[in-house]
Amino acid sequence: MATRTKREKPAAAPESPRAQRFVYAPAPESADHVRRLERYDLFVDGKFRPASSGKRFATVNPATEETLAEVAEAGAKDVELAVQSARKAYEKTWSKLSGAERGRYLFRIARLIQEQSRELAILETQDGGKPIVESRDVDLPLVAAHFFYYAGWADKLEHAFPGRRVRSLGVAAQVIPWNFPLLMAAWKIAPALAAGNTVVLKPAETTPLTALHLARICQEAELPPGVVNVLPGAGETGAALVAHKDVNKVAFTGSTEVGKQIQRAIAGSSKRLTLELGGKAANILLEDAPLDQAIEGIVNGIYFNQGHVCCAGSRLLVHESILEEVQRRLERRVKTLRVGDPLDKNTDIGAINSKPQLEKIRALVQSGVDEGAVLHQPACELPRAGYWHPPAFFSGVTTSHRIAQEEIFGPVLAILSFRTEAEAIAKANNTTYGLSAGIWTRKGSKVFEMASKLRAGVVWANTYNRFDPASPFGGMKESGFGREGGLHGLAPYVEVLS
Ligand code: NAI
Ligand code: MG
Repeated sequence: MATRTKREKPAAAPESPRAQRFVYAPAPESADHVRRLERYDLFVDGKFRPASSGKRFATVNPATEETLAEVAEAGAKDVELAVQSARKAYEKTWSKLSGAERGRYLFRIARLIQEQSRELAILETQDGGKPIVESRDVDLPLVAAHFFYYAGWADKLEHAFPGRRVRSLGVAAQVIPWNFPLLMAAWKIAPALAAGNTVVLKPAETTPLTALHLARICQEAELPPGVVNVLPGAGETGAALVAHKDVNKVAFTGSTEVGKQIQRAIAGSSKRLTLELGGKAANILLEDAPLDQAIEGIVNGIYFNQGHVCCAGSRLLVHESILEEVQRRLERRVKTLRVGDPLDKNTDIGAINSKPQLEKIRALVQSGVDEGAVLHQPACELPRAGYWHPPAFFSGVTTSHRIAQEEIFGPVLAILSFRTEAEAIAKANNTTYGLSAGIWTRKGSKVFEMASKLRAGVVWANTYNRFDPASPFGGMKESGFGREGGLHGLAPYVEVLS
């Protein structure tokens, strides 16, 4: 179907006067001061130690394919030790501290994160491939903000649940993905600790480094041993952790498939569960949408973080009267996005996190072409080594196309059109997911009317992908259940007694 594909050949010279005006000199962030180790161990009971099996796995930089470090791989025996240490810390120390004392540790961790944020941002970018401007200006400030925010709740739980008596649950097993490695660690650890629980965290196998640096920060903050344990490893480690009989609470962010496996694995037990799974968000442009802002919002919604975002605005629903105009503007804007070295401060789109993820994106893009949608993809030169995908969008998409139904988790947008608002709502809700959505209109009343009809946990209006620790986040339908962030984010970590 090559005739239906608007894939351009790389041009020898920049194609437009506009492109000629912006020639960027390389502006790499210096990584000299990063204290990256060659080998990382597990963090159990306040100490770093090798895996009981002695096994290690390599974590690579997806922008270069170079091995960054060898990381200890936790097995069943290490899971046992870590859960025991979390249990002991819970019984002997953490549950006995006052909220104010717990808060003090969390404030200390938050301040240390701020102090080390440059280093953590670089590590995040090296290990995961996201542009430094995102890890530095989006992820790290939010990570610190989450710890500050929940530190503030630790001694105010009676105000969080007015008139109710609550108590912590015990040991929380937390499994997180690779798209926001340190931010997901913060989302999980901060509320758990504030509410009085202890934690065993399993970072994703492609991005374990920042969680291990966070473990070091816990040591520096003199957090009592065992309150936070970090077990790097892959799916098997995660499965052993969530299945451990002495775990009281499981929190998972990742794919819907693994979320369902976890649900099955713990069915019938008394473990509490929250799941934050995939998404296929609709970003809806009504006839009167403010187009300049909307184009930036669309770009931020799908190309931000290579589209490795569960709430990415991966379906664009446009009123047919403005469809051509929106496509024209988007085509122009996408050409100006810069793909390349994630450590370069001018980079908009970094490396795809792993080879399997790149293959998944490519396969879905091919399905879009095969099913008859039109691919718009600017010519851009991609580095030789590493995993890359240019920003792309599809026009002529219908709701039955795979690219309109399946999570691509890459920088690829599917554009659909609608005639009436009822049709927009129907199309937006025509998915198994229900994590997020966006609405663009100048009319406030329309925002409220449409938001109430959208089956999505988060709805942004005239903006996209905005986060704040005080604001709850989570899904409906197959996007999971439970909320993280805000007051709501404390609830999954306490039991209401009366
Ligand atoms: P995944 O769901 O396999 O991985 C997420 C985490 O779960 C990792 O730490 C992994 O080691 C762990 N894990 C894997 N199997 C497990 C099991 N049986 N029990 C407990 N933990 C387990 O996600 P994957 O394979 O890396 O990505 C596949 C797709 O999932 C992506 O293409 C994307 O569509 C989606 N995804 C969604 C995310 C989100 O934020 N909602 C994050 C990552 C992926
Ligand atoms: Mg890596």
